[in-house]
Amino acid sequence: MALHQGTLGTDHGPERRRLSINPFFGLADPVGDMTSAPPSHRLPDGPMPPPTAYQLVHDELMLDGNSRLNLATFVTTWMETQATELMAECRDKNMIDKDEYPRTAELERRCVAMLADLWHAPDPATAVGCSTTGSSEACMLAGMALKRRWTNANADRYRGGARPNLVMGVNVQVCWEKFCNFWEVEARLVPMEGDRFHLDPQTAAELCDENTIGVVAVLGSTFDGSYEPVDEVCAALDAVQERTGLDIPVHVDGASGAMVAPFLDEDLVWDFRLPRVSSINTSGHKYGLVYPGVGWALWRSSEELPEELVFRVNYLGGDMPTFALNFSRPGAQVVAQYYTFLRLGREGYRAVQQTARDIASGLAQGIEALGDFRLLTRGDQLPVFAFTTAPDVTSFDVFDVSRRLREKGWLVPAYTFPPKREDLSVLRVVCRNGFSSDLSALLLEDLRMLLPDLRRQSHPASAEREPAPSFHH
Ligand SMILES: Cc1ncc(COP(=O)(O)O)c(C=O)c1O
Repeated sequence: MALHQGTLGTDHGPERRRLSINPFFGLADPVGDMTSAPPSHRLPDGPMPPPTAYQLVHDELMLDGNSRLNLATFVTTWMETQATELMAECRDKNMIDKDEYPRTAELERRCVAMLADLWHAPDPATAVGCSTTGSSEACMLAGMALKRRWTNANADRYRGGARPNLVMGVNVQVCWEKFCNFWEVEARLVPMEGDRFHLDPQTAAELCDENTIGVVAVLGSTFDGSYEPVDEVCAALDAVQERTGLDIPVHVDGASGAMVAPFLDEDLVWDFRLPRVSSINTSGHKYGLVYPGVGWALWRSSEELPEELVFRVNYLGGDMPTFALNFSRPGAQVVAQYYTFLRLGREGYRAVQQTARDIASGLAQGIEALGDFRLLTRGDQLPVFAFTTAPDVTSFDVFDVSRRLREKGWLVPAYTFPPKREDLSVLRVVCRNGFSSDLSALLLEDLRMLLPDLRRQSHPASAEREPAPSFHH
């Protein structure tokens, strides 16, 4: 369906007023107040009591999946009560009103400083950054900075019709396709090859030319949770610079990994320690452990972020630089991010992420041991792994498994890989804080229990259905 198209639903025509509603929905007299259901695709003619409106909306939402059992999402689905209390206290604060909410603005600045330090900015005091609604917005901002730097440096050729391009793996998240589409940048995609499911540094370097605004390296791929080799990408671009003089910056899309690697893979060099890394983004609402939606974008220094992209808002009588696509957005998530940083510290984050990784690795091994599946990744980078059916399994496929697990309440997505590996369909499990080892054991048990049934099928049920679309999350 295209966006949210207006639809009149069943609210018009002779049967305009639906008549079936729980008589209890009246206020004092159960049947004397609201006796017919209000329209749901047209503004009701008059008001209704709050408990009635609440109950109607609440009841409909019961049909949504249970977010804690949603193993498709990277987004935080559990926070402690103190965090949710703080968020409730701040839900009326608009992040853009820096002058009116100076303490919220200050907490945002502290978060940026903490991330700059965590990601080894050469001088955390001069690194620049901002909060966003999520990684998608952060990636748009980082991409815009790359494009503007390139157009400033290549003004004549740009005016003469040169088309900027961005080099990245075909596995990038859909936000990068959006960026290229919205900002008219050619997407140069490094395809998957054999069992390589992410960016190959050499191929990336070969795709670069004088119109390349940057290379995106993803720390942890959405498709399978694997880290792309950021250091090798930088080294390949160093060689390009030596050969051609082209100095091509790297943006690290650390939507998930930038909040995992600093705690669990301290020796992995992927961040501002690499001089070629010009900017990094992360989702505060993924492994940053905050409810949606908050993200972060940071640049190594103000030189990486062209000044003309920065707008100024009123702040304590002076002006404060801002870089964002939105104007208004909630302050609560930023406050919750600061709370979580303060609450956990490095040791706390390490413990949470290590637990998620242990659960992911243990579950991956358990699934491998069932004998019907082949692991593509093992949950030892992001706490995420992808697996497919073993080569000798012909009676069912990953789509059958996803469908049957859904019957048990588990949301485990199945999807087809992008070009050059479209033959490969996988299931992916994202382990997050709140997906406990008990829940993981229950998932494994449910999977084990449904295998005999699946093995008895004569062929995969999906063979009779439309081909599944490729996955975009
Ligand atoms: C690597 C990567 N980049 C960007 C995004 C988009 O992030 P957000 O949902 O925070 O906008 C995702 C989301 O899964 C992702 O995995």
